Amino acid sequence: MLVEKNVALQPYNTFGIVARAHTLVRVAQEADVQAVLADPALGPQPKFVLGGGSNIVLTGDVRPVVLKVEITGRRLVEETDRAWIVQAGAGENWHEFVGWTLAQGFAGLENLALIPGTVGGSPVQNIGAYGVELQDRFDSLDALDLTTGRRFTLDAAQCGFGYRDSVFKHAPGPASGRSGPTGLGLAGRALITQVRFALPKPWKPVLGYLDLEKKMAESGMARPSAQQIYQWVCDIRGAKLPDPRVIGNAGSFFKNPTVTPEQCADIIAREPRIVHYQLANGTVKLAAGWLIDACGWKGKSVGNAGVYEKQALVLVNRRGATGGEVMTLARAIQTSVYERFGIRLEPEPVVV
Ligand code: EPU
Repeated sequence: MLVEKNVALQPYNTFGIVARAHTLVRVAQEADVQAVLADPALGPQPKFVLGGGSNIVLTGDVRPVVLKVEITGRRLVEETDRAWIVQAGAGENWHEFVGWTLAQGFAGLENLALIPGTVGGSPVQNIGAYGVELQDRFDSLDALDLTTGRRFTLDAAQCGFGYRDSVFKHAPGPASGRSGPTGLGLAGRALITQVRFALPKPWKPVLGYLDLEKKMAESGMARPSAQQIYQWVCDIRGAKLPDPRVIGNAGSFFKNPTVTPEQCADIIAREPRIVHYQLANGTVKLAAGWLIDACGWKGKSVGNAGVYEKQALVLVNRRGATGGEVMTLARAIQTSVYERFGIRLEPEPVVV
């Protein structure tokens, strides 16, 4: 086990925020975690699990021991009548993994192309885009308990998936909204090591999303391949979302809020153009990007943090932004959306 001290975290978070880890250990295998837990100095300290750093805002140096997940490997582990079961190490780059599955002939993840981050982060967030969520393709995962070092396996029900939510985002304790196998949230308590995906046989394209329908109409293709959808998703994302290698960001900064039909009717009466989607459970989802845009935030800045010109839901690091500046901007946006629409926007990234 190599224990690194005073490590710069700027390259390890997609916002590109400058901060340091007091202590960092790279986890390439389970034994690395067990060595940390058995270490008399590190074992008792709080831990912070770092994946691709694509969904965090660092507001200062990180004091807990940073466990940077670098577990690699990807393979077909099983074939059933209904699916290919493919497993990947938590440290694998998500987008490269999606490309690899397609190259192997396993379709099903193409709508989730180009999402920054790692395989291990994908269930934490229940990542989703263009009509597919991770939970639609999830089989199971292996994780280590960060107090005992013991390995455990969770199926989809045990992960408690919701919209950009899972048991891994909820603090341990009876009050936590989502519960794991022990009835507790697992935030800060588990390190995901391997994730298994069930990639459907036969494969059916998911094309209902407006941007994809436009691509279909433009191309005149009635039956696009998974590879074609992958390419379209890459093109759509490239046109709308900033590349974190060029402009620091963490994707959508707020979740799309849901409201009751009554609340929605009330808002429509005042704002007839509001972008909203009817959900199967009767509630209505509002486009947070539209709400922020309507408050005039697109292209605005607070210090070095800004609102992306092409998508108001994405906050960006214009150069040298601190986590504090990002959060000041986020709070100003929340206040103006609340004052105008009476809706509280909930941030998507984890604030560290
Ligand atoms: N809109 C505006 N102005 C804006 C931004 C959006 O009017 O500045 C309107 C758009 O015209 C559209 C609607 O809002 O009618 C929705 O926008 P978009 O299609 O870009 O999707 P989104 O709801 O903003 C969500 C996810 C994205 C995901 C896309 C595609 C959330 C929080 N975000 O964005 O996920 O890629 O749908 O499925 O659910 C992420 O989570 O980091 C992320 C990028």
